[in-house]
Amino acid sequence: MAERIAIILAAGVSSRMNTQIAKVLHEVCGRPMLAYVLDACRKIGIEKIYVVVGFSAKQVKERFSDANDITWVQQDEQLGTGHAVLCCKEHIKDFQGQTLVLCGDGPLIRTQTLTALIEEHESGQSAATLATAILEDPTGYGRIIRDKYNNIKGIIEDSDCTEEQLKVNEINPSYYLFNNKILLEALEKIQPDNVKKEYYLTDAVSGIIATGHKVLAVTAVRPEEAMGVNSRAQLSVASKIMQHRIQQELMENGVTIVDPDNTWIDARAKIDRDTIIEPFTYIHGEVIIGQNCRIGPFAFLRHGTVLNNNVVLGVYTEVKNTTLADGVRARHHSYLGDAIVGHNVNIGAGSITANFDGENINQTNIGDNSYIGAGSILIAPLDLQKDSHVNAGTVVSQENVNKLGKKGG
Ligand code: UD1
Ligand code: CA
Repeated sequence: MAERIAIILAAGVSSRMNTQIAKVLHEVCGRPMLAYVLDACRKIGIEKIYVVVGFSAKQVKERFSDANDITWVQQDEQLGTGHAVLCCKEHIKDFQGQTLVLCGDGPLIRTQTLTALIEEHESGQSAATLATAILEDPTGYGRIIRDKYNNIKGIIEDSDCTEEQLKVNEINPSYYLFNNKILLEALEKIQPDNVKKEYYLTDAVSGIIATGHKVLAVTAVRPEEAMGVNSRAQLSVASKIMQHRIQQELMENGVTIVDPDNTWIDARAKIDRDTIIEPFTYIHGEVIIGQNCRIGPFAFLRHGTVLNNNVVLGVYTEVKNTTLADGVRARHHSYLGDAIVGHNVNIGAGSITANFDGENINQTNIGDNSYIGAGSILIAPLDLQKDSHVNAGTVVSQENVNKLGKKGG
């Protein structure tokens, strides 16, 4: 098997996003765009990934500081995608294998496409292979130009296209596999003679063809996977597509989502089977939900929520950084923050943990089989023993629990 590395381009200033934050850090369903592209590389077994950074490089590196398969490459001036790849030259000049080049602003990439790309590249023994897509509206993308025998001749950027070329609807999603040596040779020759005065990676593809090497373009990319995110509007479209994927996978794994269009589930959430997610539920961050739970309608589950099996969270219930044991019920209008709640606890309507005292976030523990009556305020830090019974409408502090003993309230 050929050795394979990946280069991900993530240095660009995103003027169209109108942002101070690096584009690849903008989130799609709770994860930065770059995370998805890295995942795709890892899933096909790539162990060495070069990420080219420039604009807000520090933030990007910080966000991914725990990844030990990334080599960061600096591109000080953003002179184009071809120039960005060339910035890796010192690292890869002696590498004899295949180089996958992807863009950090293409989070919708799927591993199946990369696998297809590799198969085509190897079976066709090409010097470069690109995966293409057919779009109804190809505006903004580089167009794949083919000759009358259907062989690829090159890629022309939208801004450089003739009227005729603009009509081509086969586009370049920027998923390429190159013979590394041939890639570097071609990159040395590209010139910024185009409308944007940039060094285009796409020109390296044309260059490889011009020098007589075999280049293949496989139409392997689904339209909804081809999107590069260049604007906030595209970010929202990409998020919607990703959300659909997340929900499809959950449903395949046995989760009922009553109304997918009116439900939002973070990419990091894990939900076990036979759990039912009612409409208008928003799950944000790392959230774990066990089996046979019923969530919503109108529930808001935030980062650090862990629900064991058979938990019921009803309308307007918000949970954050809290673990609920088997059988906990909070059916109406509750806030549980920074709490550990034992088995079969009933949280009455409108009861909340007052977890923030103005300076610190404090913890609430509620023992197994406790009953918290409606409209109670549990002032943290608070430790309620098992079988505690809090009457409706009680303001519970540790002080009055100690006074009243086990039958507090
Ligand atoms: C690029 C492709 C286009 C393709 C489209 C797919 C080129 C010239 N064009 O266009 O054919 O259809 O992607 O989405 O390659 N970047 C750097 N350094 C730079 C410039 C860009 O790292 O100097 C990075 C950007 O951060 C981004 C990626 O490369 O992640 C692509 O750059 P972008 O400017 O978005 O290219 P497009 O115009 O979308
Ligand atoms: Ca782009």
